[in-house]
Amino acid sequence: MTTVIDGKAAAASVVASVTSAAAELENAGLRRPGLAVVIVGNDPASHAYVGAKGRMAKQCGFNSIQHTLPEETSQEDLMAIVETLNADPDVDGILVQLPLPKHLNSEPVIQSIRPEKDVDGLHIINAGKLAVGDLQTGLISCTPAGAMLLVRQIHGSDLSGLNALVIGRSNLFGKPMAQLLLSANATVTIGHSRSRNLPELARQADILVAAVGRAGMVRADWVKPGATVIDVGINRVPAPERGEGRTKLVGDVAFDECREKAGAISPVPGGVGPMTIAMLMANTVIAAYRAAG
Ligand code: GUN
Repeated sequence: MTTVIDGKAAAASVVASVTSAAAELENAGLRRPGLAVVIVGNDPASHAYVGAKGRMAKQCGFNSIQHTLPEETSQEDLMAIVETLNADPDVDGILVQLPLPKHLNSEPVIQSIRPEKDVDGLHIINAGKLAVGDLQTGLISCTPAGAMLLVRQIHGSDLSGLNALVIGRSNLFGKPMAQLLLSANATVTIGHSRSRNLPELARQADILVAAVGRAGMVRADWVKPGATVIDVGINRVPAPERGEGRTKLVGDVAFDECREKAGAISPVPGGVGPMTIAMLMANTVIAAYRAAG
């Protein structure tokens, strides 16, 4: 029988641990962990994600701060806010929601966040620690960390002898995911839009991770029988069966048909998505403990 991986349950268990760790910090006479989220502009999907992050931070007992900036915010003003948050001892984690409006350059903004507060794990110091196999002293990007937790549920922490294919090569997901799999001893391939033979590569994968942003791209004939399939895609598509003009969220994997072939598969929604927010909370509480010494 195929295991449908329950990301909601896994996330709830992470959130429970984070909540008790946050309470312990506060009970020790120290302050609550503080998470600051900065959002620029009016993108509805980004606002929905940021709202969910703020609610979860409060649920974990954190001090939750949100800076909502207008679309026309300048690079200088955005970087000045990051500087203020860098210097604020009540702020343990800073997240600047991406993508930024087109006139802003995200890279200098991300690199201006103090690495100790970079709960997205995007600062070069944190990305570099991961790249050299230091999984202990930095902060790891939330979505790959969450996806890796789901992989570990199925395979344990040693992936020796297993082939893994990550489809997607972004700094936010594909590259750090590949490095986490490599640190766990998997034999890792990164595929992307310029790869010539993705279905062929996929058929060799014991662990297939899809993060391309194309609804239903991974088909059943890509899946090695018994493989673990982790779907990181979040695509909004029309759903006329739910009524005129309605939409639904689907992943990069054609779930119903791949489910028949896979040994384990993560659904969308309810798979990797809830893990991302849970790992953001975990990174924030880790940063708070480090700041407290
Ligand atoms: N936009 C979509 N996912 C993410 C994420 O994990 N972090 C940030 N900062 N922005 C995002």
